[in-house]
Amino acid sequence: MRINEHYLTLEESYLFSEIAHRVARYTEAHPEADVIRMGIGDVTLPLCPAVVNALEAAGAEQGKKETFHGYGPEQGYDFLRKAVLEYYRERGISLELADIFIGDGAKSDLGNILDLFHEDNTVLIPDPVYPVYRDTNQMAGRRIQYLNATRENGFLPMPDWNQPADLIYLCSPNNPTGAVYTRDQLEEWVRYANQQGAVLLFDAAYEAFVQDPALPRSIFEIDGAKACAMEFCSLSKTAGFTGMRCGYTVIPGELQRGGVPLQALWLRRQTTKFNGVSYPVQRAAAAVFTPEGMAGCRKNLEVYRQNALLISQTLTDMGLWHVGGVNSPYLWMECPNGMSSWEFFDHLLQGPHIVGTPGSGFGKNGEGFFRLTAFGSPESTREAMARLRESC
Ligand code: MLT
Repeated sequence: MRINEHYLTLEESYLFSEIAHRVARYTEAHPEADVIRMGIGDVTLPLCPAVVNALEAAGAEQGKKETFHGYGPEQGYDFLRKAVLEYYRERGISLELADIFIGDGAKSDLGNILDLFHEDNTVLIPDPVYPVYRDTNQMAGRRIQYLNATRENGFLPMPDWNQPADLIYLCSPNNPTGAVYTRDQLEEWVRYANQQGAVLLFDAAYEAFVQDPALPRSIFEIDGAKACAMEFCSLSKTAGFTGMRCGYTVIPGELQRGGVPLQALWLRRQTTKFNGVSYPVQRAAAAVFTPEGMAGCRKNLEVYRQNALLISQTLTDMGLWHVGGVNSPYLWMECPNGMSSWEFFDHLLQGPHIVGTPGSGFGKNGEGFFRLTAFGSPESTREAMARLRESC
């Protein structure tokens, strides 16, 4: 018997677990510290009323013989898949029902999708980036080539046409930097992926934060994308579903490799390894796409946007270089006084008692940078910014 030794190449713990442990150790030793959390991108506002009503109604249905639901379809109930289809259609993107798969969030689908691909594939992953892409490929022992995202290229790396690739990860609006690819830039990525015969894995979990109508919110706004891309989306940040767990993955029927439609492989994978998202959660998710649900979500997103604005203004006043926060809930700042990412983490935790995420946790190019999230309450964000001004 042999274990999967690729696990031994991973960092000892996942970035956000490591941060949680360090914060727990600190608060145990300093129970009086009033710590403000701006680390993991977890929402703080409750679900909007339309979603809560749908959840309660579906919960009640489960308590009656006539309306009880057992196992559901593994790819999701049609009522939710149709709502997602319509959400794309309203943005001018036409998809088929078969293209939509409901899952329990982008993180799971982004990790599990790798079941479909050969271990020998070469993977392109931006650095810095959401650590799930790197860790899940490392678990399978795949060759990873990093795309340098730097201050010079606005943290938006572009393809090197001499670099061969099989799988390409892009996240826009980006986690952690908040940078957003333009239409021209995504067109170039799509051309490159098609030329390479590569598959582009596009993480659109933060699309709802895009305010600038010129910026794309879906890879399928780009011509040619259906032949090379899949899109991963989540209701976690859009609708406050971090604790509810629901998202959707889009795999167009046109996307085939070696004559095999990847949609068919994913369906086969999901029907074998996944029993679907619970009925009440899918009903709640469908309510997100109703006019009342959309209005409720927009109201919450506006609170986070105002927080982001305040953080950005504070950093500007303090002369601290940063990006993001406009079309994204994340702000990406340079650590002051030449501190490393983890030094600044300790400085903020021990001084003003603020928790953020060290940029180096997202990759080597993140060293010297730091991520703050706008997902706190307006009160705690105001308090954190007042403390930050005093401490640096
Ligand atoms: C983050 O903080 O990067 C995200 O909340 C993590 C996630 O969505 O899994």
